Amino acid sequence: MVGRELRLPPLPAGPVAVLCGAGLAAASGVPTFRGPAGLWRRHRPEELATPAAFARDPRLVWEWYDWRRGLIAGCRPNAGHRALARLAGSRPGTTLISQNVDGLQERVPPARPLLLHGSIWRLRCAGGCGRGEWEDRRPRLPELPPRCPDCGGLARPAVVWFGEGLPAGSWRRAAAAASACALFLAVGTSAVVQPAAGLIDLARSAGAVTIEVNPEPTAAAVDHRLVGPAEEILPALVAALV
Ligand SMILES: NC(=O)c1ccc[n+]([C@@H]2O[C@H](COP(=O)([O-])OP(=O)(O)OC[C@H]3O[C@@H](n4cnc5c(N)ncnc54)[C@H](O)[C@@H]3O)[C@@H](O)[C@H]2O)c1
Ligand SMILES: [Zn+2]
Repeated sequence: MVGRELRLPPLPAGPVAVLCGAGLAAASGVPTFRGPAGLWRRHRPEELATPAAFARDPRLVWEWYDWRRGLIAGCRPNAGHRALARLAGSRPGTTLISQNVDGLQERVPPARPLLLHGSIWRLRCAGGCGRGEWEDRRPRLPELPPRCPDCGGLARPAVVWFGEGLPAGSWRRAAAAASACALFLAVGTSAVVQPAAGLIDLARSAGAVTIEVNPEPTAAAVDHRLVGPAEEILPALVAALV
């Protein structure tokens, strides 16, 4: 990409929806799950990001989340996040949809992405005592596993684990945006985690132009692929959209 001109397909007028994945945060230093530098090379997802794993060994699961929190706390939003914030602020009818739990996009106003998989900075009671979610931004937690302040039971990360349902409100709004948009961007996602990846097909079948931004083309059925890193492609793409 560097030094080469980005050749863009014709871009329609009208609402834009953007589905972001871990690749958007790669340039910030947050490891992706899949791809060459993927986190899962050293940690298997089914050992850590499932309700069964948490029931079996909550401390191990929390050690992994605590390590990721510490790592992400030292990361800053990159040019890709800034470009998407610019799009959200300048083009009416833009919806940002994120699978990321890192909180980086939310740090660039006015971006307020719909969070499909929750946030690593929020916790909730695993015992279901009725206390709502709470925020805890400390990069490393003093006690692992952390406890629910109300009932003293185990707390868990307020993220969506494999096999769990998505937050209903975010999902409904994301699906509505995908169905109603003229342009749908799939940015930095391997497009294998469902149901999030299904938004691409939903948008395409509803008539949107679909564009993938990824250095490694995925199996997603899209109209166009912009092959390269999000932090390089998004600033140019957004400049053409606002
Ligand atoms: N930053 C985070 O919050 C984070 C990090 C890792 C995983 N996850 C979780 O992973 C699950 C879904 O997987 P996913 O599809 O988001 O990620 P994934 O790890 O499955 O795939 C990452 C994708 O990003 C691409 N990529 C790598 N560098 C890139 C760059 N510079 N620019 C653009 N694309 C790049 C890779 O080619 C790959 O297709 C989600 O549940 C998400 O919550 C989140
Ligand atoms: Zn509780």
